[in-house]
Order: sequence, then C-alpha cells, then structure tokens
Amino acid sequence: MAEPTDATPWVPESRDLADLASAAHDCRGCELWEPATQVVFSAGDAGAHIVLVGEQPGDREDEQGEPFVGPAGRLLDEALDAAGIPRESAYLTNAVKHFRFEPRGKRRIHAKPELRHVKACHPWLDAELEAVEPRVVVAMGATAARAVLGRTVRIGESRGHLLEEPDHVVVVTTHPSAVLRLRGRDGYDEAYAALVADLRLAAPFA
Ligand code: URA
Repeated sequence: MAEPTDATPWVPESRDLADLASAAHDCRGCELWEPATQVVFSAGDAGAHIVLVGEQPGDREDEQGEPFVGPAGRLLDEALDAAGIPRESAYLTNAVKHFRFEPRGKRRIHAKPELRHVKACHPWLDAELEAVEPRVVVAMGATAARAVLGRTVRIGESRGHLLEEPDHVVVVTTHPSAVLRLRGRDGYDEAYAALVADLRLAAPFA
C-alpha cells in the first residue's frame, strides 16, 4: 500500500464529534503519532459559536490528552476571561493533533510542525468545522492561521481585523506561547493586551 499523505483514510463520514475524536486515535496520516503519547483531539462541544485553533499540543497536553491544559492554556484562560469569553463556551482544537518534539535527555522539546504535518492533519480540522459550524474561528499563531485560511499570512498584518471567509469570520492573533515567552521582559504587556484585543473582536460572535 502507498504511504498515506494525509488523515483522509481515517476520517469517518460522521460529523459527530465523539465519532471524530474516537477515530482520530487510530490516525496514521503522518508519522507524528508514533512518538506521541496519544492524539489530542479537542475540548468543547458542537454547540460552540467560537472555535479557537492552536498549533499543536504541548508536552502537558500530550500527557493529559486535552488541548491547552499547560502554561499556554493558563495564559489563554486569563486572556479569554479578560475578553469576556467563557472557556466553556468555546471549542478548542489544534492545527496538528499530535505533539511534535525532539527528545533532549529526559526532556521533550517542542518542535514546530512542518507544513506537510499541517496539511496531513487538515482533514480533521475540516471535519471539526463542519461538525461545529462556528460563527467565528480564532487562529492563534502562524501555523493555525495557515491551517484555517489555507494560505500563509503575517500575524502582524492580519490581526486586528475580522476576515470574512465563506463559512465563518476569522480572527488571526498571536499564539499564547509567544506571549508567554515575553513574560518578565519588555513587550509582555503590549503582547498580552494585543491578544486580549483580538479575542474581544471575536467575543460578540461567541
Ligand atoms: N499550544 C497549542 O498550540 N496547543 C495546545 O493545545 C497547547 C499549547
């Protein structure tokens, strides 16, 4: 059999989120499943009006099987709260559903997914958006923006606007991890305020 090029053979026809999440456990659409602990599918339900898309699960998410439960998730929670979006009202997912990392001794260091990983995982994101039918999608970071919009954009140029896409509005913002990296340094307050401002753009749709 030819090597799979994406997740399509594993994506069921069903658009029930529980069916999708369960099928994703077997996905072999790229090689990232093998070193990862498990697939990290999503959190939230099909009734959400807002979908938040990150890059890929981190170390903590990989262990717990849930998106945004680590340090970036805590910063995102704060920012959502400041923007008036209850986390429970949102559907959270990632452009890539397995943790890509490089082992360094006992540690696992985050490695950015390549474009081919984003493309391989895209059938899952498509299926999720068909299941949830959100009013607004917030793409957090360049990888998420590539996955959501299907084109490469600069965060600095695209943020701060509502982008009208055929099925929903898209808000592009920075990834919470990028904000976290500035904590305790110059530029943190501005970066955090800009993230909250982008989330506030999405809030009326949520
Ligand atoms: N970063 C992401 O992009 N997604 C997560 O789930 C956690 C951290």
